[in-house]
Amino acid sequence: MQKRKILVCVAWPYANGSLHLGHMAGSIMPADIFARYNRMVGNDVLMISGSDMHGAPIAVRADRENTTPEEVAFRFHRINTKALEDIGASFDLFTSTHTDNHTQTVQDIFLKLLGNGYLEKRKSLQFYCPSCQRFLPDRYVEGACPHCGYEKARGDQCDQCGKALNAEELGEARCQLCSAAPSLRETEHFFLALSKFTGRLKEYISDKDHWRGRVRSFTSNLLEEGLEDRAITRDLTWGVPVPVEGFESKRIYVWFEAVIGYLSASKEWASAGKDRSSWETYWKDTETRSYYFIGKDNIIFHTIIWPAILIGYDDTVLPYDVPANEFMNLEGEKFSKSSGVSIDLPDMLRRFQPDAIRYYLSVNMPEGRDTDFSWEDFVAKVNNELVAAYGNFIHRVLSFTQKNFGCIPPADSARQEWISEVESQLKNAAEDYSRAVGGCNFKLGLKTVMELARFGNQFFDSVEPWALLRKDREMCGSALNLSMKIARELAVLAYPYLPFSSEEIWRQIGYADPIEEIGWAALGEDLLTGKKLEKPVPLFKKIEIPEEEPEEDCPSFARLNLKVGRIEEVSDHPDADKLYKLTVDIGRKIGLVAGLKEHYTREELRGKRIVVLTNLEPATIRGVKSEGMLLAAEAKKSLALLAPPDEAPPGMAVNSGRKPSEKLLPFSEFQKLEIRTGTVGDGEVDIGRRMPCSNCKSIPRGGKVACFVENERALVLICDNGSQIGFDRDISAGAKIR
Ligand code: MF3
Ligand code: ZN
Repeated sequence: MQKRKILVCVAWPYANGSLHLGHMAGSIMPADIFARYNRMVGNDVLMISGSDMHGAPIAVRADRENTTPEEVAFRFHRINTKALEDIGASFDLFTSTHTDNHTQTVQDIFLKLLGNGYLEKRKSLQFYCPSCQRFLPDRYVEGACPHCGYEKARGDQCDQCGKALNAEELGEARCQLCSAAPSLRETEHFFLALSKFTGRLKEYISDKDHWRGRVRSFTSNLLEEGLEDRAITRDLTWGVPVPVEGFESKRIYVWFEAVIGYLSASKEWASAGKDRSSWETYWKDTETRSYYFIGKDNIIFHTIIWPAILIGYDDTVLPYDVPANEFMNLEGEKFSKSSGVSIDLPDMLRRFQPDAIRYYLSVNMPEGRDTDFSWEDFVAKVNNELVAAYGNFIHRVLSFTQKNFGCIPPADSARQEWISEVESQLKNAAEDYSRAVGGCNFKLGLKTVMELARFGNQFFDSVEPWALLRKDREMCGSALNLSMKIARELAVLAYPYLPFSSEEIWRQIGYADPIEEIGWAALGEDLLTGKKLEKPVPLFKKIEIPEEEPEEDCPSFARLNLKVGRIEEVSDHPDADKLYKLTVDIGRKIGLVAGLKEHYTREELRGKRIVVLTNLEPATIRGVKSEGMLLAAEAKKSLALLAPPDEAPPGMAVNSGRKPSEKLLPFSEFQKLEIRTGTVGDGEVDIGRRMPCSNCKSIPRGGKVACFVENERALVLICDNGSQIGFDRDISAGAKIR
């Protein structure tokens, strides 16, 4: 087979939340399977993506959380990078759009398109919110889709019909920040003259017979309907600056720059390696094939806008294939962070082996149509297929052989009919598999693997090695050799899907070099006969439907040890104007330093009951030892102390029913945790934005609570006597607690 350059591009997830199973099934798993397969068969693969950090979604979230877009973006970038590593996504680079390299690449392309006459400055009317006193680009405004009537269409796109929109076309538009009706105001923006590319784009898709039918028809319909020029700058302060004078207060539209990420990430990857120009072959060599793994809502950006940008910029390799997936829904509803319909990848990884998750995402991949995630189906597929058919075959063969032979026996006295049956099964499976996976039919590829596993089980049963063992030891060994060949091919073919267990099988059957490097070639060779075998351990564990485990929702909460305290004595700190020195009873007496002087008199504090973080590493603050920290909520200029319910005595734990931590917590670690004020709603808490809550069902709606926030879930602070923590003063929802 001829060696090819393959560029594997994966849709850039927004850094406004954790990755969920929808992202995994839609774009990341197919890309990873494809990249691993191509590396294994000897192609040169570059697989890239990163966090999409700009644009309205992140700015909107930051506004609501009262923090900066950078903080939101990098917080989720860290969470997601870790989760991607843990699930085994084999990116050569997972970067972000908030880098100097990206800004430069984007501005360079912008200026080149401008010089080439593809960008035009135009005045237009845009929504402006009179109460927020700002323009409302894209997701800042919601309304009815002019094409399909969907009521929650966003300013740039309708999620129901997939059409790109201009915000002014929305019916009954509302401001996302305050719900007021916006009005139209004149502003000036750059427009991408998409209409100028129609001819070139038609030509481009004319030979794309290998595209999925839906992707091709969606794209050619758009081209037939006629392309409208689109504004590619926005009235925003978060994003890539427009490199043109007079546009200092505007930014480049997130979609225009995010797609450029594929190119800028390739450059970043090359710069980090031996050869700074090594990105070029992936973009300039006409033999290179670039694949874009995306969800169906992203098609237009990858088959129209990105090719148009590339055509207008420079003749680089245009997308060879855009195998867009449909959606995997969650028990019937679309995965969506904002509506709380979601299963996060980090959560899943805490509960299940990565290969079990990968198996289910592959076997239930929404390739031709939407699929549905359900816990029952997840458990059934993993237990009945992965564990009972696949894992069981491998384990039977390996453990029977190890136990009775201690090494891989030769196949010298194998019956001819066995050999021909096994060889032909192996050959057919590898061929069917290659055709499927090489053509981006990943479900079909996995089906060939599972059929081979089923054949393996049948073969093993039919040769009855346990009966042969006493009758004809050599023939038994030969049957095991053939079975082991099936196991080896299974490990190789399953590798792109189940890399962790495949690597394990590979090691167990005696290979030292990585399966990705030598696995494919090894299929044509003899096994390492005579190689000593270790006692194998089963590859997979059966799983159960997880119970509602509140522990898992906000796992970092377990690092805190919070207690009810009562202030006994208050005095001025000898060396600091704003600080008090407190003696607090938390079941025992401790000393605290607190910056409360601007907000409370000594008299107000004396006798007050508070909440104290008791396992903070002790610190000496301007010469006075502080052995903990009292918790207070802070919003703009006002401050409120967390107030335990009346019946809770000093020393009572405030750990929402969990085990308090006995370990000391460094202050820097505490700072990374998020605690906020919130208002209780229906199974959710409003902390400036609404989020599902693990333990607020019994709290009356409208109640003000303090809650711990992690992984987009809230956990209300509750004392050991079952009542929630309140505040000594009025304070708005969403205030930070420190
Ligand atoms: N962030 C987008 C989304 O989640 C995808 C961006 S893909 C890119 O829908 F190519 F534009 F980066
Ligand atoms: Zn629509």
